[in-house]
Amino acid sequence: MRMYDIIKKKRDGGELTKEEINFFIEGYTKGKIPDYQASALLMAIYFNKMTKEETINLTEAMIKSGDTIDLSLINGVKVDKHSTGGVGDKTSLVLGPMVAACGLPVAKMSGRGLGHTGGTLDKLESIKGFNVNLDINEFTQIVNKNKLAICGQTADVAPADKKLYALRDVTATVDNISLIASSIMSKKLAMDSDAIVLDVKVGKGAFMKEIEDAFLLSKEMVDIGTNMGRDVVALLTDMNEPLGYAVGNALEVKEAIETLKNEGPKDLVELCLNLGSWLLFLGKKVKSIEEGKDKLLKVLETGKAYDKFIEFIEAQNGDSEYVKDKTKLPQAKHILELRSEKSGYINSIDAEEIGKCALILGAGRETKESSIDLSAGIVLNKKVNDKVENGDTIAYIHTNDLNKGKEVVNKLKNIIKINNNRREKKLIYGIVD
Ligand code: URA
Repeated sequence: MRMYDIIKKKRDGGELTKEEINFFIEGYTKGKIPDYQASALLMAIYFNKMTKEETINLTEAMIKSGDTIDLSLINGVKVDKHSTGGVGDKTSLVLGPMVAACGLPVAKMSGRGLGHTGGTLDKLESIKGFNVNLDINEFTQIVNKNKLAICGQTADVAPADKKLYALRDVTATVDNISLIASSIMSKKLAMDSDAIVLDVKVGKGAFMKEIEDAFLLSKEMVDIGTNMGRDVVALLTDMNEPLGYAVGNALEVKEAIETLKNEGPKDLVELCLNLGSWLLFLGKKVKSIEEGKDKLLKVLETGKAYDKFIEFIEAQNGDSEYVKDKTKLPQAKHILELRSEKSGYINSIDAEEIGKCALILGAGRETKESSIDLSAGIVLNKKVNDKVENGDTIAYIHTNDLNKGKEVVNKLKNIIKINNNRREKKLIYGIVD
């Protein structure tokens, strides 16, 4: 088999066989196929697309390129949740304890933040001592005992995707549905959870800007998972404005704690109830989505979800005093205020731009090697459609660098738009199952 023939076949609109896809992925991962040939194939795929079968074969080949994670020692149905990435998305911190408090095991491997979106591991490290580096035995033991553990990826999962994603990034071949779906699903399916709930973000701060594209991507990912014997459902959720009010690591942990005490922002609570009820349903803990929501509301109201969070923090060596007394969490030296210069309604708060401002303040990483300031970030005081009067505070900017803080205040004046009308807004655009 020759890579030249595979490129030519795809260039001419042909359908690649399983063997051809395996040849490409194996050869590329091992360094036998050069970047220029892989780039040419990616561009041919970009223009001529892939059939469902090709996409499934590509996903399988990428899974086989690395380690898979065996969760068979965890008792019960194992469910996983994955978000395609958003701004202010602290859902895992809230959802994990809520679902675990309902008796369903949550074994979650999370990532770090990169670019304008944040990562769960960074957020958790705002809590002194919290250990994200569990080996698979510790991870399994904690889940079996407490029903909840969150750790970083230790195994070498889907190395083919790591290499290919970096190449796609520099060859303008990222935004192809088959390539995105196989990339995300190869990493998810490498872990042998029984069911997966995908939170596919749509809007200004998301990878998918248009609802139609998000539907296509969701359908492709659900089909790949189902074909491999897993229960998969995708919820298409809004990422035009940040989720909740807080953006930044320790600030988001604080908001997550408030939410677990049943004092959370409406959108975050609603999202957790929806994603969580699907997790409980696929995990066979409830017979309907409505029953799932009731159960989840109850663990918020009774404090069981909050207690589960404390137990989870302690099990991974975190100092739970940081949860009980939020003033112990990393605090920035300065808090600047952005005040409204007119009256009206908040019309838009571009999530991607807010994420970029948080990056300027040091709350995120420009590259994988950058260090982050856990205390920095933005706390909105208003959400889209809220009424504002001239002089009202719209946002608080938490910073250790006054110049950067002032730069962000000026940027936010253009990012947060105010006009005279409320607009229609939605949190959940649809479900693909
Ligand atoms: N996220 C991924 O993991 N892969 C993609 O291709 C796009 C977003």
